[in-house]
Amino acid sequence: MLKGKQIVLGVTGGIAAYKAVELLRLLTKAGADVHVIMTRAAQEFIAPLTFQTLSANPVHTELFNLIAEREIGHIALADRADLCIIAPATANVIGKIAAGIADDMLTTTIMATKAPVLIAPAMNVNMYTNPIYRNNEETLMDCGYLFVAPATGTLACGWEGEGKLASPESIFEAAVAAISPTDLRGQTIMITAGPTREELDPVRFISNHSSGRMGYALAKNAQRRGARVVLISGPVNLPAPFGVELVGVESAKEMQAEVMARIGGCTAVIKAAAVADYRPRVRSGEKIKKKDAELSLELVKTPDILAELGRLEKRPLLVGFAAETGNLNEFAARKLKEKNVDFIVANDISQPDAGFNVETNRARLLFRDGRCLEYPLMSKDALAAVILDHVATELAAK
Ligand code: PMT
Repeated sequence: MLKGKQIVLGVTGGIAAYKAVELLRLLTKAGADVHVIMTRAAQEFIAPLTFQTLSANPVHTELFNLIAEREIGHIALADRADLCIIAPATANVIGKIAAGIADDMLTTTIMATKAPVLIAPAMNVNMYTNPIYRNNEETLMDCGYLFVAPATGTLACGWEGEGKLASPESIFEAAVAAISPTDLRGQTIMITAGPTREELDPVRFISNHSSGRMGYALAKNAQRRGARVVLISGPVNLPAPFGVELVGVESAKEMQAEVMARIGGCTAVIKAAAVADYRPRVRSGEKIKKKDAELSLELVKTPDILAELGRLEKRPLLVGFAAETGNLNEFAARKLKEKNVDFIVANDISQPDAGFNVETNRARLLFRDGRCLEYPLMSKDALAAVILDHVATELAAK
């Protein structure tokens, strides 16, 4: 998403300036070309050389530096930027921007740019709650400036409260969202991910190899594109995607309950979860003891959540998945029809590089009008973007 993007990173004078180094690292790792501007006060906290080394670009500190002026001009960065970020942003700099003051390289660039501007404030809690600051923030928000709210905690000045710079990871996520398409804004998308576990007794369960990666990639990308995302997840080892409402479940029954409890207001549901089709009829309260050479388990069907959604009178847009080891088109087309979904993502899981517990996936999308679109092997992130393109198109046509 950030590959090849020109990003101006403004660093102002606060103790959190050192955290801008980590943010710079995340941005460059994602392929962005980052140009750092430091205010004079920022240089009291951290040396420009650190940013210069890590960005591989000269750091801008003076408005009228003769060499920089000859080479790029003091407005060039503003013109070139796809996105400007100020992190940390002091009350002073935010006040100057709100008042239209452009008296150094950073405020001049911000004033002159047409790119989105993302501000991550960091200051003392009393400054943050001061009505003057609140007015300035509101003025800038009204003008379309974006903010990443600070965290609450112990501040460098010793006070407790709001004002701590948001984590570099959340500023990075907000930066990605700021330059992502917003074609899912206004939509509430429910995504299910991961496996379910159907317990036999307190120590054993029936499950599958789903890692949750496909569902989490969908959740992350839908959130970046402006959707409100509810992620119902079976047990996985993945961090919660930024800005997503995460609901953890274990069994198919629990997943069914959480999905149905939250379905009101959802405009689309994407069911990437690998829900166990069967569960033991009886769950033993005690550990089942090893006695005979053989043990038979009686299994009963779990609720088919997707089919239940398909039967709703007023149903949201439904996207199903089909994981198959053969006859991909035939079985996926049958599920599309039987579960009454709008389109289905068919995975050929006989391939080692696609489907369960790998970073990549290869899919065919089957639609109700008979279209079948085949996509080559790609990362789950890239496939999530493709699926969401179709979700956006179908929602727009509704
Ligand atoms: O999690 P990863 O490691 O990233 O792997 C991704 C994946 C392979 C799990 C994913 O891409 C995928 O294919 N998910 C669906 C797997 C599956 O259970 O397919 P199915 O053909 O058994 O089910 C068809 C559809 O019905 C699915 O959307 C499933 O969520 C849904 N279903 C199935 C059974 C059930 N009881 N309730 C359901 O809602």
